[in-house]
Amino acid sequence: MNAKDIFNRLWKDYTKQNPSAKKVYDLFTSAGEEVQNDHIAFRTFDDKRVNIEVLARPFLKSGYEEKGDYHFKQKHLYAKHYEHISDNSMPRVFISQLISGDFSEFLQKTVQGIVDQIPEKSLASDELIYSGRLWEKPSYEIYQKLREESEYAAWLYVYGFRANHFTVNINALKKFDSIQKVNRFLKDHGFLMNDSGGEIKGTPEELLEQSSIKSEIIKVDFKEGTYEIPACYYEFARRYPDESGRLYSGFIAKSADKIFESTDFYKKNQTK
Ligand code: NI
Repeated sequence: MNAKDIFNRLWKDYTKQNPSAKKVYDLFTSAGEEVQNDHIAFRTFDDKRVNIEVLARPFLKSGYEEKGDYHFKQKHLYAKHYEHISDNSMPRVFISQLISGDFSEFLQKTVQGIVDQIPEKSLASDELIYSGRLWEKPSYEIYQKLREESEYAAWLYVYGFRANHFTVNINALKKFDSIQKVNRFLKDHGFLMNDSGGEIKGTPEELLEQSSIKSEIIKVDFKEGTYEIPACYYEFARRYPDESGRLYSGFIAKSADKIFESTDFYKKNQTK
């Protein structure tokens, strides 16, 4: 499958689950903008059967190559980013994995237990990135227990393999020449920003500024019944040129630590 088809398929699935992402997209297009993606992000576990290398496979086959790697110490994550070899209009691909060994035995056993349930055929397939949850219906009790240690692990336990977020490339917008204008526009249209660590993560000096709206709250069927929990979010990124005049293309570990919190649990009627 070529990279464009991969992204179209991921986008379809992502907007079906998170209609607000489509609303944001439509807001920008109706303001006369052509929305391009800065990057698309995935989450996984560090288990060899499903780790970053496994999720990266379909992208490497469709013209992507490995670029940077990152350590998110606070969140106990490791990540790599990939770029298309020749087409710089194609989004970066950002894949992170949870360092399970840093967590409790309960978390490690839960991760192993769910990865054990994934059929061999899915593990070997390039379809893995669209497969969602490939294990039994989640338990709300386990979800809550995972959250105490890692919101990231809890999110993955419920949703499995899919795009965690798409990211609008602010540099490619015509009318919105700052991240502040983008945020204002979103808030004026009723969207809630993730303000953990401030609405804007990163600075022009760091060459990357990012913000995100909070995740959509959706109904999920658990073993114990239906509960409302956060799903995916939409992100916005503005990049600055480095000393050589080239647009910075990496990710900043310090500020991205906070942006992972966009999928943290919150109740719909809360404003924060
Ligand atoms: Ni991101």
